[in-house]
Amino acid sequence: MRIQAALIGCGRIGSNKHLEAFLANRERLDLIAVCDLKPERAERVADAYATRAGKRPVVFTDYRKTLSTGIEMAAIATESGNHYTIAMDCLKNKVHTLVEKPMALSVSEMDGMVSEAKARSVKLGVCFQNRFNPSVQEVVKKLRENAFGRVFTATARILWNRDEAYYKQANWRGTWRFDGGTLMNQCSHNIDLLQWILGGEVDQVSAVIRNYRHPYLEVEDFGAALISFKNGSVGILEGTANVYPRNLEETLSIFGETGTVVLGGLAVNKIQTWQFPGESGHPFNALPDPESVYGSGHIPLYQDFYEAIAQNREPAISGEEGKKAVEIILGIYRSHKEKRAIPFPLAPFQTTDMAGVKL
Ligand SMILES: NC(=O)c1ccc[n+]([C@@H]2O[C@H](COP(=O)([O-])OP(=O)(O)OC[C@H]3O[C@@H](n4cnc5c(N)ncnc54)[C@H](O)[C@@H]3O)[C@@H](O)[C@H]2O)c1
Repeated sequence: MRIQAALIGCGRIGSNKHLEAFLANRERLDLIAVCDLKPERAERVADAYATRAGKRPVVFTDYRKTLSTGIEMAAIATESGNHYTIAMDCLKNKVHTLVEKPMALSVSEMDGMVSEAKARSVKLGVCFQNRFNPSVQEVVKKLRENAFGRVFTATARILWNRDEAYYKQANWRGTWRFDGGTLMNQCSHNIDLLQWILGGEVDQVSAVIRNYRHPYLEVEDFGAALISFKNGSVGILEGTANVYPRNLEETLSIFGETGTVVLGGLAVNKIQTWQFPGESGHPFNALPDPESVYGSGHIPLYQDFYEAIAQNREPAISGEEGKKAVEIILGIYRSHKEKRAIPFPLAPFQTTDMAGVKL
């Protein structure tokens, strides 16, 4: 069975990883419509798809019109602050919806998306594609085998550089309404991996955030947080967009009773440290880096989303799963704002509640 699909948002990630994933999955998915407010962007994606797939999707500038083309699935790669509105329109039209991270910027919007998908009996998936990295899958296998013993802590470090030219590419970047700061944009993948690996429910979050060197932005460019889980494990987060003069590292370190792992590389694709009884080192340390920090996970993520529809099961990264990292980041924001540890589950909170807060 092939599923007819649309891509909404043909900017940096849409024209790159989503196009690539549609092409790689074209036996499963038929990209019949592409949409962007800027028609030239959608035209470029339609041309590129036609060159490789031999069939040109129809171009739209109004996503609502794509919903009347008979599509069964939509992938949403617009700015973060639009995900909710567009996703809700898709879901209400009984269209399976795969949405870029972060799925939305407010707890109640995320809950609304999850319940709408359930009410319409359609799938909702979120692009935390690094979960599909072979390096991450190796860790998950060890966790399932209980090879770590008790997992004590994990540390996520995202030590990157985003300069003024980056933020000037589009006026939604670095705003509370449409993006959030570096934790919500650049760091959410590693926060998702940290919470996924430590597992279980969050107990509380305490954090500070700062804006050190982006005075033209209202959001944070640095954050440090302690995330404690009900199972006793603790997540430690350091995220920054300020490393001079360029990106330094994205790593995730996991420390258990009988296991230590450090994932690194351009997109946490390598296994830099691997220590278990009788095992020292892992061949995935020698894996080549992907071409960008986006990694290579959109292709298997799309395949999984297709199979979830075809087999009527939940996608690997469902709406409920996609919500977890965003809820932690909103908890971090709230902790900074209220200068206290925030107990979970998080009461309704959204990025715009941070407007005017001193960073
Ligand atoms: N998974 C990842 O690794 C990854 C990487 C980069 C970006 N992202 C996420 O993808 C989203 C887009 O990021 P980007 O860097 O591609 O941004 P971008 O600004 O390059 O692209 C967004 C595109 O959406 C279009 N758009 C906006 N509103 C629209 C609407 N109503 N209808 C149709 N098109 C509309 C814009 O014209 C633009 O072309 C963000 O949520 C971002 O967080 C995810």
